[in-house]
Amino acid sequence: MSWARTALLKASQSQWLRERAPRYPFVRRNVARFMPGESADDALAAVRALAAKNIGAVLTALGENVTSRAEATHETDLYRSLLTQISEQNLAAEISVKLTHLGLDLDENFCFDNLLSLIAITPSSRTTWIDMEQSPYVDRTLHIYRRARQSGANVGVCLQAYLRRTEADLRPLLPLGGAIRLVKGAYNEPTDVAFPRKSDVDANFFKLTQLMLSTDARSPASPAHLRAAIATHDRKLIQKILDWAQQEGITKTELEFQMLYGIQRAEQLRLANLGCKSVVLVAFGSFWFPWYMRRLAERPANLLFLLRNLLT
Ligand code: FDA
Repeated sequence: MSWARTALLKASQSQWLRERAPRYPFVRRNVARFMPGESADDALAAVRALAAKNIGAVLTALGENVTSRAEATHETDLYRSLLTQISEQNLAAEISVKLTHLGLDLDENFCFDNLLSLIAITPSSRTTWIDMEQSPYVDRTLHIYRRARQSGANVGVCLQAYLRRTEADLRPLLPLGGAIRLVKGAYNEPTDVAFPRKSDVDANFFKLTQLMLSTDARSPASPAHLRAAIATHDRKLIQKILDWAQQEGITKTELEFQMLYGIQRAEQLRLANLGCKSVVLVAFGSFWFPWYMRRLAERPANLLFLLRNLLT
């Protein structure tokens, strides 16, 4: 079904579809499987419901590639107001941002300052996460992450196991500590940049997880003390990681798994009940079309749910 993935990822870039799809109630009904609602209040209510199950949350406001400084400032202000609500409501939620949403396409320093302004109002015990976007953004994203780490910020970055370059990116990041969220990767990338075969992506994911959980990277006694977040819904891979961790003497409380809202809910709960840190990324906002198409592309069987919603 790789043709379906490619077609859906191409469609995610279509402005024509982005303007029209949200008008259809059956599409909106289907999107509701992946997000609790468009408003920040919807997202915060989901955070409370997850907390009651001992599941943590990371919030992300949907949007990417802003084209003016005013827009980037507006989006940064929205995140600032979200952080204020999180602290007023005493919620243990973190945020995850896309750098192109904070102005990376316009000016790297401007984007960096926007990011720092969010880190400045985040409690130092909480991580501000940076998503990873398409491959042309990797160098700039990692540069901003390193700058933020060097300024002492509690910041985390996402790395994508489908990229051939990721192991070389990860190794020098390990001594910096901070936080790394490992994902498989959600975009349409050329085969010289990303492994085309799922088995290669999965093997790389496992290898990178082992590096992130190596004694040097993970131990609280080591200067690095990396926070490693294993972000996948792949239950087979999760079990392989749990088994390997047990052999290595890594306790469940040292393992953090992250998933997306609405996907593998039973597994999110099972991991929390096992004693692992289980965290869910909750997206909200009205700019959901490209994000939603990436969710469809991850599992083209989701199209069946979409069709079912068309008929009900
Ligand atoms: P895989 O795609 O192999 O799926 C394994 C199984 O999980 C499937 O068989 C299915 O059962 C279930 N599943 C997976 N996706 C599903 C879906 N959409 N609907 C229903 N079931 C599904 N990517 C990126 O490029 N940059 C980023 O910053 C992030 N950030 C991020 C944060 C978090 C917390 C998560 C969990 C994921 C991301 N991603 C991401 C997305 C990531 O790259 C990847 O596309 C998805 O997680 C799907 O890959 P899996 O690892 O789940 O495996």
